Amino acid sequence: MCGIVAYVGNKDARSLLIEGLKRLEYRGYDSAGVCLMDHGKLFIRRAAGRISVLESVLDEQTVPASQIGMAHTRWATHGEPTECNAHPHMDDKSKIAIVHNGIIENFSAIKQFLSDLGHTFKSQTDTEVLAVLIGHFYEGNLSKAVQTALHEVRGTYGLAAMSCDEPDTLVVARRGSPLIIGVGSDEYVVASDAAAIVEHTTQVIYLNDNEMAVLRPNHFRTTTIDDTPVTKKVSEVEFSLQQIELGGYEHFMLKEIFEQPDAIEDCLRGRLDRREGRVVLGGISQYSRDIVRARRLIITGCGTAWHAGLVGEFLFEELAKIPTEVEYASEFRYRNPIIEDGTIVLAISQSGETADTLAALREAKDRGALSLGIVNVVGSTIARETDAGVYLHVGPEIGVASTKAFTGQIVVEILLALSIARRKYMSQAVLQEFLDALEKIPDQIRQVLEQSDAIREVAIEHAKRDNWLFLGRGFNFPVALEGALKLKEISYIHAEGLPAAEMKHGPIALINPGMPAVFIATRGSQYEKLLGNIQEVKARRGTILAVASEGDDYISQVADHVFTVPNTIEPLQPLLTVIPLQLLAYHAAVARGCNVDKPRNLAKSVTVE
Ligand code: G6P
Repeated sequence: MCGIVAYVGNKDARSLLIEGLKRLEYRGYDSAGVCLMDHGKLFIRRAAGRISVLESVLDEQTVPASQIGMAHTRWATHGEPTECNAHPHMDDKSKIAIVHNGIIENFSAIKQFLSDLGHTFKSQTDTEVLAVLIGHFYEGNLSKAVQTALHEVRGTYGLAAMSCDEPDTLVVARRGSPLIIGVGSDEYVVASDAAAIVEHTTQVIYLNDNEMAVLRPNHFRTTTIDDTPVTKKVSEVEFSLQQIELGGYEHFMLKEIFEQPDAIEDCLRGRLDRREGRVVLGGISQYSRDIVRARRLIITGCGTAWHAGLVGEFLFEELAKIPTEVEYASEFRYRNPIIEDGTIVLAISQSGETADTLAALREAKDRGALSLGIVNVVGSTIARETDAGVYLHVGPEIGVASTKAFTGQIVVEILLALSIARRKYMSQAVLQEFLDALEKIPDQIRQVLEQSDAIREVAIEHAKRDNWLFLGRGFNFPVALEGALKLKEISYIHAEGLPAAEMKHGPIALINPGMPAVFIATRGSQYEKLLGNIQEVKARRGTILAVASEGDDYISQVADHVFTVPNTIEPLQPLLTVIPLQLLAYHAAVARGCNVDKPRNLAKSVTVE
């Protein structure tokens, strides 16, 4: 949510910043801006719209050659996405500029305080208030002024600041919003995530909350915002440039859907010990006794990660025999939750930066829970703050609609549940069956992906329908929710996901002739009951789209369209049944002319609450 990139070194900052912004565009894309140093003056250009609009603005003018600068792509919180509200924002003397990701919660009180002192404002943003506050405290030392200002601020920030009086200095700080410093040779690239850094260096420093850095071409200093020096470890980023490029696909979402077989192989790598017949999860091994003895598991997350958590509820109860609940992180954090001895909180997050999930995790830790994480982005805040965890290792996910992270999250939950089950009661033979089935999943997904063209035809046929239902039961109920979410977020079709039996308690009233109802109707414990639900929709002349098990001839007689998935054991089915739904959403969105990777109003990483 909002992307920051900043540079100080010996290269041309303009092109580096624009390239960096493009890599961060998935974090927010309603307006953008850049600040460069122009012989002791700040050269700032901003534009409403995508980064390409900012590029055209820059192309039309003489842009100073500068080796220091900062840029921002915005996802509006305070104030509409106009040029005036775009970042960078300057103080009212035009001496200091900042870019900012996060929310300054007490901005109106500070604005009032500054207005009473005669300061003026041009935008509606909380960020400009912070810029003016830094300017108010500025007495020739930017880092001091930033520190003083941040002490007055409540809320979250990842920020970069420049002053025209200190033309070779960049000051960056973080609380709540991610900020990473790439360390090159005599240069630093600062960004909200590593995607904008890996092209230049793989050596990075992760700033923690309440930490800041002062960067000059060949020197950096890290402190807390109270000015206590901190020594930071330089880590190696594990992903490559190739992983964050389209590689011939039209959209990142499609690329990531098709990457799932490999991504799951990567996720499983080294974790199935075939010889010993056990699951190896090194990241949590030091807590394995506590995990096996857990009396209650609370899974928390947002969006797709929350759906993966719902699949986890079935997995942990069915396989690991641990009473499990799944909580929206945004609700859990404010709900005064009861955490008794033996409670484990499991935070699921692709980015590892989602503000609500992070806050829920901190709340649980404060109340004494053991905290575990299932996270994709290595070194992210949630990964660092949980007591232990398991990385997905599915590679960077760029498309705003989460796909391979969802299947990766389920794979890790299965592994975790199986490792607990084995320690508790599961026989070697049963575990072996699961491991065999899991190993087949990548190839089975490959088979499902072969239906992409056929799914596109169906999507095109029904893409004009404005209301869809997604229905499933048991393990596939969360898949129905995920199918509906995928469709609505990228194609703007209204879609509802439901446990199939709930349909008759209200939603059935929505069904009219031709309305698409997508049933996840694979063979399993509730198959027959689900067939009954299909008949209820058919009787009202809805159009039935079914995800069914291979070889199920009966379904083809009742459904209008069938997408098949290979047979696997029931707890593993979501890994296969979600694939046709991802493709359906993708093709429907393309058919409706939507921008699949940058859907309106959304952002990939939601770092504000
Ligand atoms: C945003 C994204 C979703 C994602 C959710 C949670 O809403 O658009 O795709 O599922 O955040 O993100 P996380 O990074 O915590 O998994």
